[in-house]
Amino acid sequence: MKKIYSIGGGKGGSGKSFIAASLGALFAREGSRVVLVDLDLGASNLHTFLNLKNPPRGLDEFIDKKIAHLEDVALATSVQNLYLISSARCSLEVANLFYAQKKKLISAIENLPFDYVLLDLGPGTHFNTLDFFLTASEGVFVATPEPTAIENTFRFIKSIYLRKLKQSLKEADIWYLCRDEIVAMSRNGLTSPIDFINILVKKDIEQGKIFEDLLNGLKLRLVMNKVRGQIRENLGRQIVEVCNRHLYPGFDLLETINYDSRVYDAILSKQIFIGKYPYTKTAVALQKAARKLKQEQPIAIGLES
Ligand SMILES: Nc1ncnc2c1ncn2[C@@H]1O[C@H](COP(=O)(O)OP(=O)(O)OP(=O)(O)O)[C@@H](O)[C@H]1O
Ligand SMILES: [Mg+2]
Repeated sequence: MKKIYSIGGGKGGSGKSFIAASLGALFAREGSRVVLVDLDLGASNLHTFLNLKNPPRGLDEFIDKKIAHLEDVALATSVQNLYLISSARCSLEVANLFYAQKKKLISAIENLPFDYVLLDLGPGTHFNTLDFFLTASEGVFVATPEPTAIENTFRFIKSIYLRKLKQSLKEADIWYLCRDEIVAMSRNGLTSPIDFINILVKKDIEQGKIFEDLLNGLKLRLVMNKVRGQIRENLGRQIVEVCNRHLYPGFDLLETINYDSRVYDAILSKQIFIGKYPYTKTAVALQKAARKLKQEQPIAIGLES
């Protein structure tokens, strides 16, 4: 069965594209057909991590209605079974897609004929970014260990839950049930998804349960990237705990990845990181993340001291 994962994050430069490219390569190496979709419209750079300097085709052709099937612009990469749908040729204005264009693109992504579809997103909590993130029911949030990391992660995860709830309530035509309370609550700064569900349960217990299940079905995981020194696992665990306590339980720590100057070195030498440095701590952490995402047991391959 096809699986779609989104890779997002509140801040620019946290490593979303690097992690998306690495996970894609790891999935493909195990024989699955994988496509990476660069949804950082207007600031794309996923192709750089895959050593595709000037992608000859891309998402622009689909948005401009030059092709009917998004898969027609999936480019082969140097990794067997790994393809890229690039947005490098998209104009800068495309970052502000119209609603109908966004819906059409999301539907095309859902229908891509691959085993794994990985969505690399731009930073921030713009509605388009949140909607692309929610195209997948499994999302990876990439953060770096800075003092603002908790705040940024908290804001992003909260936005994801609330966007999902609002959209689904509107689709089910029952937004009116709790609109007034939610609007009043937002004015007072109280917009926890748990409160949201509680209001809904009070109004209509059955619907409340349906929407609770909907949030339970969202699998959100954190990757702490570019970690140096002693911070290690602790910060990631703390962030996940804060989000689970104050937003909605279910957010999980996927992996902690070290700062590694060889990431940049791999780009310079025009190679995919996990291909060039397969036996490093960083590659092992990426491999563990890939296996956990696929719910497989990690295998010990680490050799680096
Ligand atoms: N673990 C790491 N160690 C060292 N450098 C890293 C690591 N992860 C990513 N980088 C470097 O950080 C920079 C930003 O990475 P990347 O482009 O993946 O971030 P991003 O979150 O996709 O950024 P944007 O929001 O602009 O799309 C790149 O130069 C990349 O090589
Ligand atoms: Mg990026």
